[in-house]
Amino acid sequence: MFVTHLAAKNWRNFKAVEFELRERQFLVGPNAAGKSNLLDMLRFLRDIALREGGGLQKAIRQRGGVSKIRSLAARRDPEILIEIRLSETPDAPAKWRYELAFKQESRGRRQTLLTRENVWRDGRKLLTRPDPDDLKDPERLTQTHLEQIHVNVDFRPIAQFLESVTYLHLVPQLLRFADSIQGRILENDPFGQGFLERIAKAPENTRKARLRRIEDALKVAVPQLQKLAFLRDENTGQPHLQALYSHWRPNAGWQREDQFSDGTLRLLGLLWSLQENDSLLLLEEPELSLNAGIVAHLAPLIHRMQRVRSRQVLVSTHSEALLSDPGIDGREVLLLSPGAEGTEVAVSSDFAEVRALLEEGMTVGEVVLARTKPSNAHELGSVT
Ligand SMILES: Nc1ncnc2c1ncn2[C@@H]1O[C@H](COP(=O)(O)OP(=O)(O)O)[C@@H](O)[C@H]1O
Ligand SMILES: [Mg+2]
Repeated sequence: MFVTHLAAKNWRNFKAVEFELRERQFLVGPNAAGKSNLLDMLRFLRDIALREGGGLQKAIRQRGGVSKIRSLAARRDPEILIEIRLSETPDAPAKWRYELAFKQESRGRRQTLLTRENVWRDGRKLLTRPDPDDLKDPERLTQTHLEQIHVNVDFRPIAQFLESVTYLHLVPQLLRFADSIQGRILENDPFGQGFLERIAKAPENTRKARLRRIEDALKVAVPQLQKLAFLRDENTGQPHLQALYSHWRPNAGWQREDQFSDGTLRLLGLLWSLQENDSLLLLEEPELSLNAGIVAHLAPLIHRMQRVRSRQVLVSTHSEALLSDPGIDGREVLLLSPGAEGTEVAVSSDFAEVRALLEEGMTVGEVVLARTKPSNAHELGSVT
């Protein structure tokens, strides 16, 4: 399924936004414009829908409570709202619509309670909350129906879809030193610390097929890399990746992942995640640590891999190289513009100047990123 429409109210630095999403969607905007906050709306719904350890209260707690989530621009209306529409294919009309709103009680136990939970299928309303039972027992409003298997049966496909939303912001140091820092792996592993375990869990043939595709890509991106292999440590049983490099002595060139470069690890994570399932993938700045020549090929690569699995990918980026591919349509780029009343979200080609420049043959990267640069950026040059 595809999220074709997203609306939110009072979510962090968004006071009120509503926009369409395409199969491949890039999010651009200045630092702190809210790109990660936007991706977090979808992670939030996933965290509620998770069958194991999900739920509204926990998802809010993991984010530091309602006061952290609610927009500072919210003022009198304290309600936080997220609404999504889902379709079977990117261009089909929405099959599902799910709307969730909540707020914190202003006195007493200061619980966070649902103010609305509504579900529509093919335009017909399936669920309306609060319902008479909720009014009799307001404690019920601490939980969504989305998170409860015995009441979400009519819209289970939404829960299943949300549960498998994947977020990737692989931090090479965390993966490389996962053992030695014995870091607590955050739930759902947003930073890729448990990445090797994920590879290990895949059925052997699937793993081999995926790693072979990754090897092909790495051979292009990483000079001298010849082979990529999965293995388990003989003593500890820990999963590892190793790569053979041609510039070392024969058979002396195998290196384990803790010796891979940041860029190699991030590319590996990206390529694995793209193949992992067919649900929505949220990618944070995939350009980090990668050579611009490689980054320039990421957009068409994502597009090709999407074709095979028909999955939606949302990508936050600052990279002109990433957006330099002439195959990117202006509608595939959402521009986040911060303002006094919160950040606005607009489709880049809705701006007449953007459309005009794209028609002249400029790339989305050239046209759109220029609009996200701070006008006083040159002053950084005089900071001492
Ligand atoms: N509750 C909130 N109300 C208003 N702004 C918020 C809230 N929570 C976070 N922010 C703002 O969001 C910004 C960070 O957004 P983020 O999504 O990380 O930006 P980006 O990923 O585009 O760099 C920070 O400037 C922070 O002040
Ligand atoms: Mg960010």
